[in-house]
Amino acid sequence: MQPATSMAHAAETVAECGILRAHPHLHLRLGRFDYTIDRKGDQSIYTVSDGAATLTVPIRYAFGLGEAGQTYIFQKDGEYFESFVSFYKALDGLDITIGDQSLRPSGLADAAGRKIGAQEMALCFSCHNTNAMQNGTLAEAKMIPGIQCERCHGPSENHLAGLKTGDSQLFAMKKLTAMSAEDSAQFCGGCHRTWQFVAEHGPHGVGNVRFQPYRLTNSKCFDVDDARISCMSCHNPHQTVDRVAADYDAKCQACHAAAGSARAKAGAKLCPVGTRDCTGCHMPKVELPGSHHQFTDHDIRIASSKTAFPE
Ligand code: HEC
Ligand code: HEC
Ligand code: HEC
Ligand code: HEC
Ligand code: HEC
Ligand code: HEC
Repeated sequence: MQPATSMAHAAETVAECGILRAHPHLHLRLGRFDYTIDRKGDQSIYTVSDGAATLTVPIRYAFGLGEAGQTYIFQKDGEYFESFVSFYKALDGLDITIGDQSLRPSGLADAAGRKIGAQEMALCFSCHNTNAMQNGTLAEAKMIPGIQCERCHGPSENHLAGLKTGDSQLFAMKKLTAMSAEDSAQFCGGCHRTWQFVAEHGPHGVGNVRFQPYRLTNSKCFDVDDARISCMSCHNPHQTVDRVAADYDAKCQACHAAAGSARAKAGAKLCPVGTRDCTGCHMPKVELPGSHHQFTDHDIRIASSKTAFPE
C-alpha cells in the first residue's frame, strides 16, 4: 500500500521520525566542529559546537527516509535551514549533506547549516510534502508530511491558488491512468526532474543519475507515445520498488521480442548476450558521489566501463 512507500514518508515530523527514534544519540566530528542529535521525548535536538560556542536547536522536519539519506530542517531567527550533516543508511550515522561537500564552513552558523531562501523553500517543501504551500508561503498547519494521495491525485481546486512553482500542471491532471510515456515522465518528473529541468539547472554527468525521468528520456528505448516505456510500466507508485531484477525482464521483452512476433517493436533488437536480468547489465547502479548510495541509471543502454558516462 502507498502509505508504506518511501514517497509517503518523503518528509516526517520529528515526533514520528523512525530514524531519529531509533537513533537517540548521533554524533559526528568534522574538523573543529562537533555535531550531535539527541532525542528528548518527542523532540530531537541538533547541537553544533566549535569548542568555544554552541548552537542548539530543535529539529523541525526530517526530509527523506529512503535508501540514501535523511536531511534535517531547523528554524533559527524565523528562517529555515537545511542541516550541514545528514543521516545515511549505509553508514548508520551522520556525514556531510549531499551537495555540501565542497563547502568549508568558516563559523558556527555556516557549520550548522545552509539557509533555505523563500523560493527554494517552496520547491523543497512541495516536492516532499502534501499541501505544503499556500499563497506562496509555507502552510504548516495544513501541510501533511510526505507524498500522500491528494498530492498526486489532486485536491480541490483552491489548493492551486498561489502555487507558482510549476505544480499547477501536476494538480490539474485529473486522469492519471493510461498516461503516455511522455506524460508520465512529465508528471513524475515534476519532482524526480525532467529533461527540461536538467537543461536549465544541470547538473551534467553522474550528478543527474538520480533524475530518472531525465535519464530515461535520453535512452534510445524511449518513445514519447509508447506506454511500454512509461514510469508506470515498471513502477506502481503505490508500492515500494521491486528489487528483483528478473521481474523487469517482461517489461523489456514487451518491445525486445523476436522479429516478426506481434509484440516486437520495430527496431528493438534481441540481445546477443543475455536472456534475463536485463536491467543488471543495461541499467547499471551508479554511486552518486557524497550520497553513500547507488542509483539505477534509467538511461537504458549498452553500458560499458570503457565509455564515458553519458551526460
Ligand atoms: C510530489 C513529488 C513527487 C511526485 C509527483 C512523484 N514522486 Fe516519487 N518520490 C518523491 C520523493 C520526495 C521521494 C523520496 C522519498 C524518500 O526517500 O524520502 C520519492 C521516491 C520514489 C520512489 C522510491 C525510491 C526508493 O528508493 O524507494 C519511487 C519508485 C518513485 N518515487 C516513483 C515515482 C513515480 C513512478 C512517480 C509518478 C507516478 C512519482 N514517483 C511521482 C517525490 C515525488
Ligand atoms: C524538484 C523536487 C525536489 C526538491 C525541490 C527537493 N527534493 Fe529532495 N528529493 C526529491 C526526490 C524526487 C527524491 C527521491 C530520491 C531520488 O531519486 O533522488 C529526493 C530525495 C531527497 C533525499 C534523500 C532521500 C532518500 O532517497 O534517501 C533527501 C534527504 C532530500 N531529498 C532532501 C531535500 C531537501 C532538504 C530539499 C530542500 C532544501 C529538497 N530535498 C528539495 C525531490 C525534491
Ligand atoms: C506518487 C503519486 C501517487 C500517489 C502518492 C498516489 N497515487 Fe494513486 N495513482 C497514481 C498514478 C500515476 C495512477 C495511475 C496508475 C496506472 O496508470 O497504472 C494511480 C492510480 C490510482 C487508482 C486507480 C484508479 C484511477 O483511475 O486513478 C487508485 C484507486 C488510486 N491511485 C488511489 C490512490 C490512493 C488511495 C492513494 C493514497 C493512499 C494514492 N493513490 C496515492 C499516482 C499516485
Ligand atoms: C524499464 C523499466 C523502468 C522504467 C520504464 C522506469 N524504471 Fe525506475 N527503476 C527500474 C529499476 C529496474 C529500478 C531499480 C530497482 C532495484 O533497486 O533493484 C528502478 C528504480 C527507480 C527508483 C529508485 C531510485 C533508483 O534510482 O534506484 C526511482 C525513484 C525510479 N525508478 C523512478 C522512475 C521514474 C520516475 C520513471 C519514469 C520516468 C521510471 N523509474 C521508469 C526500472 C524502470
Ligand atoms: C517501448 C519499447 C521498449 C522498451 C520497453 C525497452 N526498449 Fe530497449 N530499445 C527499444 C528500441 C526501439 C531500441 C532501438 C532504438 C534505436 O536504435 O534507435 C532500443 C534499444 C535498446 C538497446 C540498445 C541501445 C544502444 O545504445 O544501442 C538496449 C541495450 C536496450 N534497448 C535494452 C533494453 C532493456 C534492458 C529494456 C528493459 C529494461 C528495454 N530496452 C526496454 C525499445 C524498447
Ligand atoms: C550479462 C549482461 C547482459 C544481460 C543480462 C543482457 N544484456 Fe543485452 N547486451 C549486453 C552487451 C554487452 C551488449 C552489447 C553486445 C555487442 O555489442 O556485441 C548487449 C546488447 C543488447 C542490445 C543491442 C543489440 C543490437 O543488436 O544492437 C539489446 C537490444 C539488448 N542487449 C537487450 C537486452 C535485453 C532485453 C536483455 C534481457 C532479456 C538483455 N539485453 C540482457 C549485455 C547484457
